[in-house]
Amino acid sequence: MIISGKELSARLKAEMAEAVKSFPEKYGRVPHLVVILVGENPASVSYVTGKAKASAEVGIRNTTIRRPESISEAELLGLIAELNADPEMDGILVQLPLPKHIDESKVIEAIDKAKDVDGFHPLNVAALWQKQPCTLPCTPKGIIKMLKAAGVEIVGKRAVVIGRSNIVGLPVSKLLLDENATVTMAHSRTCNLAEVTRGAEILVVAIGRPKFVTADMVSDGAVVIDVGVNRDPETGKLCGDVDFAAIEPKASVITPVPGGVGPMTICCLMENTIECFLRSRK
Ligand code: GUN
Repeated sequence: MIISGKELSARLKAEMAEAVKSFPEKYGRVPHLVVILVGENPASVSYVTGKAKASAEVGIRNTTIRRPESISEAELLGLIAELNADPEMDGILVQLPLPKHIDESKVIEAIDKAKDVDGFHPLNVAALWQKQPCTLPCTPKGIIKMLKAAGVEIVGKRAVVIGRSNIVGLPVSKLLLDENATVTMAHSRTCNLAEVTRGAEILVVAIGRPKFVTADMVSDGAVVIDVGVNRDPETGKLCGDVDFAAIEPKASVITPVPGGVGPMTICCLMENTIECFLRSRK
């Protein structure tokens, strides 16, 4: 089975849109997401455009603030402080990566925890690891939703996550653990990686290398979640971290690239924006 993140996210966005319709009457306005884009990295521009499009579909107000690559760290921190103080702004997202002269952790820490729709603020990260209420990072949240929508049993299963980033690998490992999987965190330095991944009943790949996972690394019947967004060096087309054509026949469930995890990430960003909005209404 191929899980279409595109279809699942379309369903979930339609449900959110229905709920958001009632917000002006209930709360006086709709949620407002502010996205800050620094520079013109083509991938970032495309992600930010996708976020604006999804906001429009759900009925969320979206403001995209563009700043040049040359913006100073102090100026960016000043902008964030203004947005934090503005009660009309419910969610603040700074598109990553930032130019080298800007300290990303400083920027993430500057965002009000209550408006941190990415779930990247250290207090949200700490809350996740302590099983406290928090804003969950969008990609990991979307992955769990996809597994559940596909009817994948997670409890007690051997899950292997390749990649240990703050954005995906670490938090998705924690969420799988919270779903009672037995989680192995593998990475670029793991010895005998193929042996480790062949033991996976659920394999999540977020390593950022085109077609890194080959058929010999996957057991028959495995559930394979591909978080990669890469250019295939041969064809120039978008491809994942998984050799989809070779693995799809072996996997019981697999996500495509594009149209898999990506749309679910944006969908969860919409959900997080609504959650931040509703929490601030209370
Ligand atoms: N760059 C790549 N993925 C993400 C994400 O989930 N959030 C932000 N802010 N930047 C990113």
